[in-house]
Amino acid sequence: RPLTDTATVRPVPTLPDAQTVTEVQHYTDRLFRFRVTRPQSLRFRSGEFVMIGLMGDPDPATGRQKPLLRAYSIASPSWDDELEFYSIKVPDGPLTSRLQHIEEGDQIILRPKPVGTLVHDALLPGKRLWLFATGTGFAPFASIIRDPETYERFDEIIVTHTCREVAELTYSREMIEGLRQDELMQELLGDGLDKLRYYPTTTREESPKMGRITTLLESGEVQSDLGLPPLDPAVDRAMVCGSLEFNHDIKALLEGAGLHEGANSEPAEFVIEKAFVG
Ligand code: A2P
Repeated sequence: RPLTDTATVRPVPTLPDAQTVTEVQHYTDRLFRFRVTRPQSLRFRSGEFVMIGLMGDPDPATGRQKPLLRAYSIASPSWDDELEFYSIKVPDGPLTSRLQHIEEGDQIILRPKPVGTLVHDALLPGKRLWLFATGTGFAPFASIIRDPETYERFDEIIVTHTCREVAELTYSREMIEGLRQDELMQELLGDGLDKLRYYPTTTREESPKMGRITTLLESGEVQSDLGLPPLDPAVDRAMVCGSLEFNHDIKALLEGAGLHEGANSEPAEFVIEKAFVG
């Protein structure tokens, strides 16, 4: 064809707020992680979320396409050159049924307006930081535990992650093992590397520690396993991210121990946010 053919010179369509996928890793048939380029102007606080997505199908009446966006916690820390996300795959989920097929080089839409309450600014100073996650609720904590500020602010960080099956813990387990082996992190984690503690549990498949974290907290098993005193509003701080029911139940438990929910405008002893679910 001659070079002037309109088909060859037509520009490649670019999505609004497009970012390019740099890496994709699948963990199970329900979970995957991916990384994208970071807009140069994007500043965020570790733990915040942004709206991301893909262009939706054309409207049958008008033929127009609208972006299909959902809130996703940024799983990478604020110093990282790229952005990382951790996602569920829902077969009939409007976004994730398609998002799960992205590959390196593809584009996604990313609205560069980070917000959220799972940030250090929304917590009062304390000694011990609990990060309570179920399922993909670990995503914002993947950002928090890779941020040096976390280790400057707290003496001890405890990550609890509850999933149905063992394979669903892979992302958090590998990340924590990786941090412990990272030379730069070792300085932050202290001599025994015990400044960052990991408490994974499963509920539907055999593993060394079984049960919902709420049940294990109520019975005192978490405290006795970790050699810690009961939750104390004077020293304990918490961030919570999971399903609606989980957030509801753990909120009641934390309030029962005398902790109060904080916000960016009014820091307190714990903060909570719903994990994206479909
Ligand atoms: P369970 O298997 O007993 O429901 P999901 O995949 O449904 O989002 O759940 C992720 C994990 O969170 C599962 O291990 C599930 O346990 C647990 N979970 C769900 N709801 C609650 C809750 N209200 N309190 C504590 N853990 C919960």
